[in-house]
Amino acid sequence: MVSIEDISILRATIQDWRKQGLTIGFVPTMGNLHQGHLQLVEKAKQQADKVVVSIFVNPLQFGPNEDFARYPRTFDVDCAKLTEYQADAVFVPDVKTMYPNGMEQQTIVEVPESLTNLLCGASRLGHFAGVATVVTKLLNLVQPDYAVFGEKDFQQLRVIQRLVADLCLPIEIVPASICRESDHLAMSSRNQYLTAEQRQLAPQLFATLQTIEQKIQASSRDFQALTAEAKQQLTHLGFKPDYIEICRATDLQQPDENDTAFVILAAAFLGETRLIDNIQVSV
Ligand code: PAJ
Repeated sequence: MVSIEDISILRATIQDWRKQGLTIGFVPTMGNLHQGHLQLVEKAKQQADKVVVSIFVNPLQFGPNEDFARYPRTFDVDCAKLTEYQADAVFVPDVKTMYPNGMEQQTIVEVPESLTNLLCGASRLGHFAGVATVVTKLLNLVQPDYAVFGEKDFQQLRVIQRLVADLCLPIEIVPASICRESDHLAMSSRNQYLTAEQRQLAPQLFATLQTIEQKIQASSRDFQALTAEAKQQLTHLGFKPDYIEICRATDLQQPDENDTAFVILAAAFLGETRLIDNIQVSV
């Protein structure tokens, strides 16, 4: 696997593969790779001849009081994992390479508010503009045939699908299911911030979503009551819920009685650590 920091080398490497008629899969990440990320690499390998993974902790998508500075950076270990999973290249730009004119002078990609000012976007102002901007840049740099995104970040997936459609990018977005620990906690680089006690409690977030899922499957449609009850339950357990919502799976809008595909999404704090999870439900 080659490790590339330079845009010109990245472009030359990809051009060379294109000349050989090879297809390209892409997995954007912020590093500190776990099984959830590696499963995306596997999925990309199944789709394409060559796989590029990017590792870039994108300052543009972090709020001023968020964990940009302490976000875990584990490049050497990440590279060993990517080699084992047979990625062909890892692109590791620095902030100056991605934002040569500074972040304030960067052209921003704004996906419509109907997708970005709710759920995570409501409490993380500017987050999805930061994500959409960096992903657009990375997609233009790599120009892949396929790009794989995890359903763990369900709203992010919908935002990316929307921007690719709206900007006519000739790229297939491939979703990958959520990878979980043995106790069903969704894998996340942020799980390591949890104390031992919080870590024990953390799977209750998914368990709470499962309870809602069962009630929807049992024909309950009072979404307001279902989420209010779940919030109360999480608070009682020691979480600080940010949101729990039941949305239409296609566009994250309020579902109505004719809808058959839902997604239950939650974000909740344990101490300072913000956990997110979701379950898709088809009835
Ligand atoms: P990061 O949090 O590193 O995640 C990179 C990719 O891995 C995303 O598509 C995310 O949904 C996926 N992923 C993370 N944990 C997962 C899990 N447990 N199961 C399945 N997929 C999982 O998401 C980002 O980085 C950034 O916002 C990025 C898209 C790279 C833009 O900066």
